[in-house]
Amino acid sequence: MIKIAVLVSGNGSNLQALIDANLSGQIVGVISNKPNAFALERAKNAGINTAVIEHKQYPNREAFDAVMHQQLLDWKIDLVILAGFMRILSAKFVQAWQGKMVNIHPSLLPYYKGMHTHERVLNTGDVWHGCTVHYVTAELDAGQALTQGVLKVNLQDDVDSLASRVHVLEHLIYPQ
Ligand code: GRF
Repeated sequence: MIKIAVLVSGNGSNLQALIDANLSGQIVGVISNKPNAFALERAKNAGINTAVIEHKQYPNREAFDAVMHQQLLDWKIDLVILAGFMRILSAKFVQAWQGKMVNIHPSLLPYYKGMHTHERVLNTGDVWHGCTVHYVTAELDAGQALTQGVLKVNLQDDVDSLASRVHVLEHLIYPQ
């Protein structure tokens, strides 16, 4: 069975969806760069190893990434899943895990790379929105897409309603 690590920074609702799903791999560890991330509680409740690696404690991105890389090697990880992990990864780290690392992004890539996607969709007046699971490459939110979830934007939608509707889709498509 392949060994999976999930990298998180926050609430971890996608981590929860992965824990609750019948995955063909095993989540053996969760790494957070934030010590107070609720995702860590979710992992502990599921009996999954956790590691807190605080980026602030390292002089630069490369040093931080090197510690994460070593933790992934120690756990003998085959697949890295980014689930609300809010750090840009160094080129060296991305290279090391290329083809073995995926992310979920709250937009229909290649549209709306980066932050504040729901707000930007509303400002543009788009009819369609959603989320994308993609391989992680050196360029931000630009790797090959694996799957997408699509929804129709309603006239009544605001940032909060779109965010929660996209989250429902994320929890469906990420385990797939
Ligand atoms: C999700 O919207 C995901 O698309 C983005 O970060 C958010 C994480 O939410 N990359 P959660 O921590 O999984 O609840």
